[in-house]
Amino acid sequence: KEALPSDLYVRPLARDDYNRGHLEVLKVLSVVTDPGLESYQAHFDSMLPSSSADPTKAQTYYVISIVSKQTDKVVATGTVFIERKFLRGLGSVGHIEDIAVSKDMQGKKLGLRVIHTLIAISEKVGCYKTILNCSDENIPFYEKCGFKKKENEMAKYA
Ligand code: ACO
Repeated sequence: KEALPSDLYVRPLARDDYNRGHLEVLKVLSVVTDPGLESYQAHFDSMLPSSSADPTKAQTYYVISIVSKQTDKVVATGTVFIERKFLRGLGSVGHIEDIAVSKDMQGKKLGLRVIHTLIAISEKVGCYKTILNCSDENIPFYEKCGFKKKENEMAKYA
């Protein structure tokens, strides 16, 4: 795999990525309302595994950031959350969600890097498959990331 440009690094989302423009990056995806730092951090904390459980087993949400060393801003982000099933020998499935690369950084393979990192996490924690939903226009991108179209998405909004 190609190395990231030397100005960039990948790491888990940090509690203070609110101050690094994490929510700004997500605006390429959908409506993002500013919850304020306190609510952002309470939400962040609620996604962590409970301290009494084995953290390696209990973690459900893995959110990653690609950060610029120069600007200390988040330039790309993505999530995989781990669904634990009763079938497939109590198997797990990784669901990829909310992939976003800031507008000025698109087309530089950062999306690919985010997806490869999330797949690696999903496989490392033992998921037998990793799945996602996307628009028709993003199908070629996900095919380049190694995904194949399967079945259909159904949605019911509240
Ligand atoms: N159509 C065709 N090919 C594409 C597209 C597209 N829409 N987007 C990327 N590709 C190709 C690239 O040309 C590249 O091909 P190459 O390896 O042959 O050169 C390859 O896919 C990898 O592209 P990246 O440079 O990694 O793409 P980028 O960093 O721009 O990330 C992304 C792609 C995530 C779709 C980004 O453009 C983005 O944030 N878009 C807006 C938000 C969005 O649509 N997010 C995905 C929602 S679906 C979900 O979250 C599960």
